[in-house]
Amino acid sequence: MSPADRYSSLVNSPIGGFIAANLGLPQPVELERFAADQPLIDGPVLIGSAPGGRIAEQVEITLGQAEVSVHRVASELAPNARFKGLVFDASGIKDSTQLRELWEFFSPVVRRLADCGRVVVLATPPEDCEEPRERTAQRALEGFTRALAKEARNGQTVQLIYVAEGAEPRIDSSLRFFCSPRSAYVSGQVVRIGSGPDFDAEEFNWEQPLAGKVALVTGASRGIGEAIARVLARDGAHVVGLDIPPLMADLERVTGEIGGSALACDITDSEAPDTICNHLKADHGGVDVVVHNAGVTKDKTLGGMDEPRWTVLMEINLSGEERINDELLARKLIRKNGRVICVSSISGIAGTAGQTNYSTSKAGVIGMVDSMAAAFAAKKVTINAVAPGFIETAMTAAIPIGMREAGRRMNSMRQGGLPVDVGETIAWYASPASGGLNGNVVRVCGQSLIGA
Ligand SMILES: NC(=O)c1ccc[n+]([C@@H]2O[C@H](COP(=O)([O-])OP(=O)(O)OC[C@H]3O[C@@H](n4cnc5c(N)ncnc54)[C@H](O)[C@@H]3O)[C@@H](O)[C@H]2O)c1
Repeated sequence: MSPADRYSSLVNSPIGGFIAANLGLPQPVELERFAADQPLIDGPVLIGSAPGGRIAEQVEITLGQAEVSVHRVASELAPNARFKGLVFDASGIKDSTQLRELWEFFSPVVRRLADCGRVVVLATPPEDCEEPRERTAQRALEGFTRALAKEARNGQTVQLIYVAEGAEPRIDSSLRFFCSPRSAYVSGQVVRIGSGPDFDAEEFNWEQPLAGKVALVTGASRGIGEAIARVLARDGAHVVGLDIPPLMADLERVTGEIGGSALACDITDSEAPDTICNHLKADHGGVDVVVHNAGVTKDKTLGGMDEPRWTVLMEINLSGEERINDELLARKLIRKNGRVICVSSISGIAGTAGQTNYSTSKAGVIGMVDSMAAAFAAKKVTINAVAPGFIETAMTAAIPIGMREAGRRMNSMRQGGLPVDVGETIAWYASPASGGLNGNVVRVCGQSLIGA
């Protein structure tokens, strides 16, 4: 919880909590977040399956390898014991009448989900289903998971993961992410896992997944970019932090603390793609992970918006990134099983008044992920995006107080996220184990009601 969120601190104190409960005020819980000495999932997980499901077996193997206590029947635990996770394989559902399986599995146990517990439903991508009835039923699962995510309390999260046929061995990184505290501020999301390189989960280094990798992070001197750089370095990467020349002292402080290196560059300069590529080639022979995080807001309603507010913003948030991607591709500098990860925004999904420029640029980032996924896949590289909601940074601290409190509370977690929550989500995409994720956009917004 951020120190800036005084309301949450107050209602988490004994007296404040008592008053808030009596007045019926929202009481955000302290979200559980990753800590190195904690187990992946701190409690038992119940696995269920609709008849004919093809993914549950892999779930059991994956969670077993992660030393999670897994159960196939609720009665294995004492009646009052709580589950830390509920995972349901819905891939066997072929017809809407079988959606009842969801109710049968979840209804008796959902109240036994622990605080900050995790729900994951695995299913077949509707677009892969040949039979209309099956396609309809698989699509219906989105409504179930999004609604259950809104019923969830006390930091619980709910996700839907569509797993293409044959992609079952690639669920590991996503299951580990969505079942663990790393996904603290992600809820109500739909993810697709498809084709990708095989990897050996047993041999994989889950503690240092990015060991030996080089990651470029733009806008790394502060805020979300700084958190991304720190999380990627924690996971073993050498981070090349990039920021504008006036912020070099801040950037060097961050990269110095994480054993990375600093690159002074304004991504809107016409020379920027060349500068970046030359640096990566000369110092590292290439790059494994590219995170396009640098971004700005320049708010005004459209009638009052001067031309630089539009043009400069679009250059930073979108066009500069496109040119860097093109140059990296043309010079073949992103290594095999590489990652490009973009930072969009829920404003790019919902549109925000006073932000026609920003919302356009951030929707464009999603367009860039869509339009470039095939070109990158041909080079064995994936491209995905995160869309943060209200994250406690200098950017959101500058929002007028009324709007700021609305943004902070109008989500299923009733609080703002932290920069580290975006960093963890990016680290999940960045992992060499996440090769089956391409073209995804995941919101890190606590299931914000704005832009739902
Ligand atoms: N804070 C939020 O709640 C929020 C929500 C949704 C999306 N985002 C996005 O997350 C990203 C990071 O946001 P933040 O809140 O940390 O903002 P921030 O202003 O704290 O950091 C942005 C960084 O980008 C750098 N940058 C700006 N222009 C640049 C340029 N031309 N060349 C190189 N670097 C440049 C800045 O110097 C700064 O270090 C942005 O893309 C933003 O749009 C933030």
